[in-house]
Amino acid sequence: MNYHIAKGVFDILPKDPDPKGNWRSIHYWQYVESIIRKISFEYGFSEIRTPIFETTELFKRSIGTTTDIVTKEMYTFQDKASRSLTLRPEGTAPVLRSFIEKRLDKSGDSFCKFFYLLPMFRYERQQAGRYRQHHQFGVEAIGDNSPHQDVEVIDLFYTFLQRLGLQELTLQINSIGNKSERQKYRHALKMYLRPSLDSLSPESQNRYEVNPLRILDSKNPHDKKLITNAPKIVDFLETESKEHFENVCSCLESLKIPFQLNHSLVRGLDYYNNTVFEITSTYLGAQNSLGGGGRYDGLIKELGGQDLPSFGFGAGLERIIQTMLAEKVYMPKPNCPTLLLIPLGCDAKKKCFQMLSKLRKEHIAVEMDFSDKKLKHKMRYADSIKTRYVAVIGENELKNNKFELKEMESGNCETISFNSLMQRLKNDKL
Ligand code: HAM
Repeated sequence: MNYHIAKGVFDILPKDPDPKGNWRSIHYWQYVESIIRKISFEYGFSEIRTPIFETTELFKRSIGTTTDIVTKEMYTFQDKASRSLTLRPEGTAPVLRSFIEKRLDKSGDSFCKFFYLLPMFRYERQQAGRYRQHHQFGVEAIGDNSPHQDVEVIDLFYTFLQRLGLQELTLQINSIGNKSERQKYRHALKMYLRPSLDSLSPESQNRYEVNPLRILDSKNPHDKKLITNAPKIVDFLETESKEHFENVCSCLESLKIPFQLNHSLVRGLDYYNNTVFEITSTYLGAQNSLGGGGRYDGLIKELGGQDLPSFGFGAGLERIIQTMLAEKVYMPKPNCPTLLLIPLGCDAKKKCFQMLSKLRKEHIAVEMDFSDKKLKHKMRYADSIKTRYVAVIGENELKNNKFELKEMESGNCETISFNSLMQRLKNDKL
């Protein structure tokens, strides 16, 4: 019996043999992850890691029972004690659960700016850019309701993408107001759509009663046309929400972060209020959102904590790495060994094995070919691992206490003694 990987998920390999799967090569992930850790630290966010599953109720309560994630996409199962558990479909709810459970909401001086780099699980219909396991870089800034907090988080995300070298970015923002403003808007939108209800796509018809704002997100061309003239949520904002949004916009302008107002942007999770945003790339297809987020002021209270405002975003690493390759930005080369030792014969093997250990103790990346294959094969291996140097060591080399250190790229050889090898390689690192 042959085993295959489950549908909608993928391996991240040292190098994916499929040229189209280049984005699944581990060194790209490690590079992006290193920049995430660096920039998050610079902006004052601390890492948090929550478990891979939580109680199902947590996600239902926070994401919303009528959302696509909760109705169609959660990996929910019962454990042996019949508890309903769900593989994490998103990061906000678990971070807040932890924040409240550890009573961080009660201590004024605790960490309240978090970032995470975690896998998420959603049972999605298979298509480009949508996976059943994806990886998110997310941040959650808890406790501040000023527009500056919104912009600090948006700036972090935008600067991160720029630091990766991405250029074809569009930041779209909108305000969806507070609960009562949304309620009024919801009513006005339904009134506007009612006469055309029968002509809406089946999906939008389903959303009409349960979640009409999501109709604004519809990709159906007829729905989209109809929505062009729909009432706009900004026109329903009262003074406080309006001022907040205007301040966010002017603060973005002051940082020279270009943005577009998108009155149809509502996001697919129920917990948002006021500012919502997404950053898209022209290099992606239909699933063009690199990430998005917004303000979710009522959620901590909803989950049993204090009434604290919050703002955050989540960004998909798969789409980010794919965009980097499509935009042909700088990408690091895989880490390669400094030296491959190729012994010929038993005595050389013993000597090389000792050298291997000594060099590694000095933090030099060395490999040794243990096989009894022909030299031709061993040299082919040296090529494939892209080692910087090769040293072939046989009886003569042992007898003369000297060998040739060959630089693979230039083909240059230099003769050195066993004793001077370590210093020679250390000098190289300086
Ligand atoms: P989200 O928009 O559902 O938001 O996901 C954030 C990002 O994760 C998306 O923009 C996309 O890049 C990526 N993503 C989502 N689903 C998939 C998938 N199936 N395959 C590949 N990539 C995917 C959230 O999850 C919110 N928790 C973000 C947030 C944090 N809001 C406030 N704080």
